[in-house]
Amino acid sequence: MPSRSTDTAVAILDELRVARRDSPALPCLDPESYARDHAAFERLSDQRGLIADHLAGHLARLDDGPVSVLSVGCGDGSLDSQLAQGLLRAVPGRPVRYVGIEPWSGSAALFAAEMSALEAHELSIDVHVTSFAEAALDETFDVVVFVHSMYYVADVAATLRSALQLVRPGGQLWVLNAPRAALNELVDVLAPPLEDHPQWFSADVRKAFDDAGIILEESVTLDALVALLATSDEVLDFAVQARLTPELRGPVRDYLRAVAVSDADGESRIPHPVDVFRAVRH
Ligand SMILES: C[S@@+](CC[C@H](N)C(=O)[O-])C[C@H]1O[C@@H](n2cnc3c(N)ncnc32)[C@H](O)[C@@H]1O
Repeated sequence: MPSRSTDTAVAILDELRVARRDSPALPCLDPESYARDHAAFERLSDQRGLIADHLAGHLARLDDGPVSVLSVGCGDGSLDSQLAQGLLRAVPGRPVRYVGIEPWSGSAALFAAEMSALEAHELSIDVHVTSFAEAALDETFDVVVFVHSMYYVADVAATLRSALQLVRPGGQLWVLNAPRAALNELVDVLAPPLEDHPQWFSADVRKAFDDAGIILEESVTLDALVALLATSDEVLDFAVQARLTPELRGPVRDYLRAVAVSDADGESRIPHPVDVFRAVRH
């Protein structure tokens, strides 16, 4: 039987859906506040640590020789610098090439600065300030990774096929994406529509792997949690991917209280799962 808090969450979501019906779309977040509030949001979540630990295990098993990684939608590089540090530890003394693709120039500059700060002489860094579709790359990589960036492409299956072309034979393609869990039910109701396609969740990504004829070696969920209950309005807006009105923030916070779970220390947290899809280029 559904719990009272599940009933409450469903009721709030229904009310929000009705309130938003026939209303103009809420404003989207401009790139600068998106990048800033994303960083603040991630500091409230244990997801990045879980991702870095999970991917470090795969990076440690790469073949001998130089190692290269392409991070698509690398953002400010705070996750990639964790991955690069793990990689440098896992393959000591081997040259590591780490390339980012990022259309927002402010974030691309932060990526370059964050990676340079690692000061590892065996690490070479490059960043392309463009979208994935527009990027002109003339090299292949041991790993091509999309962390929370597949949402923004127009055609997921076509993007997966293009991305696999950038993986060297024997290398790997990783896509990390959010499932339609409690938090994203809110995104679905409140976020303005993307320009030319729906918001892609994990089920769409899994189907796109099938449609592209790419066999998955791994598909797992990392059960992260985020401390959103007392967060600022700006981070709340990032969480729902829309600039909320003051009237909407009350019900949104009530919804979050209704879907909260207890972490190991008994603190209230919001489920913040991420799915990891991994394929090998044969
Ligand atoms: C949620 S952030 C994730 C950033 C980083 N991967 C991380 O996990 O911290 C999504 C990033 O994808 C970038 N992005 C948006 N559209 C893109 C596209 N068409 N191609 C590549 N990156 C894109 C955004 O600018 C943003 O930095």
